[in-house]
Amino acid sequence: MKSVNLGILGLGTVGCGTVNVLHRNATEIARRAGRGINVTRAAVRTLEAPRRCSVDDIELTTDPLEVVNADDVDVVVELIGGYDLARDVVLTAIDNGKHVVTANKALIALHGNEIFARAHEKGVMVAFEAAVAGGIPIIKAIREGLAGNRIEWLAGIINGTGNYILTEMGEEGREFDDVLAEAQELGYAEADPTFDIEGIDAAHKLTIMASIAFGIPLQFDKTFTEGISRVSREDVAYADELGYKVKHLGIARRVGEGIELRVHPTLIPRHRLVANVDGVTNAVVVQGDAVGPTLYYGAGAGADPTASAVVADLVDTVRMMTADPSNQVPHLAFQPDALEDLPILDMKEVETAYYLRLLADDRPGVLAEITRILAEQEISIEALVQKRVEGELVPIILVTHKVQESRMNAAQEQLQSLVAVAGEIVRIRLETLD
Ligand code: NDP
Ligand code: HSE
Repeated sequence: MKSVNLGILGLGTVGCGTVNVLHRNATEIARRAGRGINVTRAAVRTLEAPRRCSVDDIELTTDPLEVVNADDVDVVVELIGGYDLARDVVLTAIDNGKHVVTANKALIALHGNEIFARAHEKGVMVAFEAAVAGGIPIIKAIREGLAGNRIEWLAGIINGTGNYILTEMGEEGREFDDVLAEAQELGYAEADPTFDIEGIDAAHKLTIMASIAFGIPLQFDKTFTEGISRVSREDVAYADELGYKVKHLGIARRVGEGIELRVHPTLIPRHRLVANVDGVTNAVVVQGDAVGPTLYYGAGAGADPTASAVVADLVDTVRMMTADPSNQVPHLAFQPDALEDLPILDMKEVETAYYLRLLADDRPGVLAEITRILAEQEISIEALVQKRVEGELVPIILVTHKVQESRMNAAQEQLQSLVAVAGEIVRIRLETLD
């Protein structure tokens, strides 16, 4: 059968990784897809820039639309990143009747509803496995492998750069900026690394997973997002003493008639598998009513691992090219007319446990004042430690039981206004994941 021609937009970390994997495993890939897959055209920003892959047989251009409009391109692979240009080229590709594979989570989280509607209308596929958790086939697992379940919750470490930073700070005592620079050098970080650090990238990915897990439209704007830039080595060490690891988690949970959608630093009991997922590795726990908890683990970023997911999508796409489009697996797992508009909970309504660190005067009555405020908000304390240090101010570390966030907000405001409390109170949410 005739080979399939790809037009790749972007030959950076993931683009070149994809070209390399397609070359290296060409025979295995063709055996699976039923025909060869060739990269014939590619768009880049700078033609002369050095590449980490061979471009000898690829016609290069600086105009992505030239690739998208080329009659000899069967499938467009979008690996430029960003929102606007990516949206324009993907919609144009769809209008031209071409299938699309993308690793762009920002694009899918923000414009996915529009893109999938257009793709459905035109009978083409838009595949996005690489957009979530790098090389881990988490989209396929949730969308197809768990299709018999009512999914109750999922939680995951879904940003490799952030996990790399937290691991190196905790295990090696390295400085935040130093580790971030290394993650950028290794090609893990986003073009704008604040996306990694401030949780925006993780929120993009959580938005996508929640949509295919619960059958809801993509709603990035309703995802609560808190980054890791304020996590200190001191808190990582205190958490460790209490038996917890600090991880940056994305959590989506079905509660009553609504959905929690939140990304934030989280204390997790050290004995949980996911607490021991280190470096650039990602892991996602998915709880289904029939299967129970399942764990997916692997490289969350980097050239070859991400290319692994892109190429898997390509194989799926090529297999579907000769099939009736109405038999496609729906983009968001559920049939487009069966998506439910469940409300996304405001963070004030979410219930979770907390780690608090206060710096307080070391004098009689201070602890009593602190516990009185917590008791008034019906916040139950699970652990309380006062550290022995030289000086008049001592760190007090508290771990609470679960409480609604609105109550914790009220308590924190009152604690912060105590004369005996100095500096800003540190608060990190805590999940037992059971
Ligand atoms: P890079 O910055 O390494 O590569 C981007 C590529 O796009 C470059 O080749 C660049 O050209 C090209 N490009 C940018 N703007 C234009 C333009 N206007 N016209 C033509 N070409 C353009 O990014 P990554 O490979 O890291 O990321 C690509 C996508 O994959 C992003 O959406 C990212 O979020 C996603 N992703 C990345 C992962 C990773 O580990 N890096 C993992 C999972 C997903 P030039 O080289 O000439 O500058
Ligand atoms: N910047 C992302 C990360 C790339 O570090 O996880 C993978 O999506």
